[in-house]
Amino acid sequence: MTDMQKDQVKLIKPDVALTDDAIQKTVLALQTLLADEHVLYMKLRNYHWNVTGPNFITLHELFEEQYTALADTIDDIAERIRSYGVRAIGTLKEMQEYARLDETPGALPPARDMVADLVSDHETLMRHLRAAANDMGEVGNMGEEDLFIGLLQDHQKKAWLLRAHLEG
Ligand SMILES: [Fe+2]
Repeated sequence: MTDMQKDQVKLIKPDVALTDDAIQKTVLALQTLLADEHVLYMKLRNYHWNVTGPNFITLHELFEEQYTALADTIDDIAERIRSYGVRAIGTLKEMQEYARLDETPGALPPARDMVADLVSDHETLMRHLRAAANDMGEVGNMGEEDLFIGLLQDHQKKAWLLRAHLEG
């Protein structure tokens, strides 16, 4: 945890019936997820713009559907952070600092590799979300446990919608 994160948590006086430790773990999990969702959002837009090939229209539209939905997800996560009295990270530099998902600047993969990359990112997020939901259960934060379980289900469905394009 960085000094900035510790300072943020010290400023909080939320009445959410959780220990300081539980709140710190919760906020870190939310900020990290916020950053990962931004990386995935940007990647979806990049692929929406730059995809080519015989499945152009289908993938162009599917990527748009997914980043449009992710914009709402991102907003929900950031506003959840604010509900703890903490500043939500809001700069690209901070997103990069926190994010666990990778990008490949300068590379433009073929359409099939774009889809595979997005499936992989959704699956990575599912693993992180399952772990985060478990952590929230352990610290008694059922509200965020519920958020993470819901997002896990969202990513699982989005992964399926993409994976179907790799099959057959
Ligand atoms: Fe567009």
